Amino acid sequence: MKKAVITAVGHYVPDNVIPNTYFESRIETTDEWIRTRTGIEERRFAPDGMATSDMSVLAIQDCLKHRGIDKDEIDFIVVATVTPDHVFPATACVIQHKMEMKHPYIWGYDISAACSGFLFALETARRLVETGGSKKALVVGADKMTAIVDPQDRATCIIFGDGAGAVLVEASDDENIGIMDSVMHIDGSGFQHLHMKAGGSFMPATVETVEQRLHFAYQEGQHVFKSAVKSMADAAYDVMQRNNLKGDDVAWLVPHQANLRIIDATASRMELDKERVMINIQRYGNTTAGTIPICLSEWQKAGKIQYADNVVLAAFGGGFTYGATYLKWGIK
Ligand code: UT7
Repeated sequence: MKKAVITAVGHYVPDNVIPNTYFESRIETTDEWIRTRTGIEERRFAPDGMATSDMSVLAIQDCLKHRGIDKDEIDFIVVATVTPDHVFPATACVIQHKMEMKHPYIWGYDISAACSGFLFALETARRLVETGGSKKALVVGADKMTAIVDPQDRATCIIFGDGAGAVLVEASDDENIGIMDSVMHIDGSGFQHLHMKAGGSFMPATVETVEQRLHFAYQEGQHVFKSAVKSMADAAYDVMQRNNLKGDDVAWLVPHQANLRIIDATASRMELDKERVMINIQRYGNTTAGTIPICLSEWQKAGKIQYADNVVLAAFGGGFTYGATYLKWGIK
């Protein structure tokens, strides 16, 4: 079987930088509290009228430019998001239409796995590419979290930001690069601690659900924090064990950026120095499905990730969902 390799990366974050001090006049919080409890210093807010698909298109264009290929070569798009433009159709369809992608067999869909969405989507593309079902698959992780975060809820509004990342996955005959292994999990018992109460078939939108602010992300921070520390570290550790990797063997850990304290705990479980952990939470906050591909794109652009580097991606999110992927970097 062929190996599935990430051959190009791209990202987009909105220009509008929102520092922690922005919140000080709006809710009861301080820059100091946000920095020390989360590691976040600023985040980006997308302007009104810019949807998740728009950010995704810009990330994809950056990605395709990087690889120097035409949009019409893409035969599969999978979009990880909890903030699709619409409940339906899939954001993948909106993107395909906006970009006028014309491969005769292009298809795709969205995946809802919250902050683990990019990993789950990458796993889907990997399986398809490995088995010859796709030649050039786009994996997008994108979220406009400002669309679903309650600006009056100080426990959530300070954490999240908007952004998108995209990677291209292609087949390779070289067994020494590409996605080597992965572990993926869902645990629906975590539902109650992180979810959106209304707007689905369980509780359709009404005047009351809007008045009661039930269309925003609801999170019990402490419970989610404890589960995230354990599950993300367990998954990363598991994938390392399965592949006989020690901390020193890993060039880069790319963790979901939810809280700097969760990232530190995962790195220490993996016995990794902090210099080998991709961290940009201070600049973007938590962009949900966007965090991991944005990191990959920034580090690639900065020349800090090298061909054949051992890379471990790890994530945890609503569902609960969590997992880790081990890959050997395939971009020269
Ligand atoms: O993205 C994937 C899933 N999400 C996560 O992984 C997020 C996981 N959770 C977290 O990152 C953290 O739990 C938070 C950042 C959300 C909260 O940090 P914490 O250290 O767990 O705080 P806490 O919820 O235990 O609250 C401690 C105190 C409370 O006050 P009292 O009850 O001790 O008086 C909160 O009301 O901090 C208060 N608090 C705030 N204070 C100032 C909560 N939010 C804020 C705030 N500013 N923004």
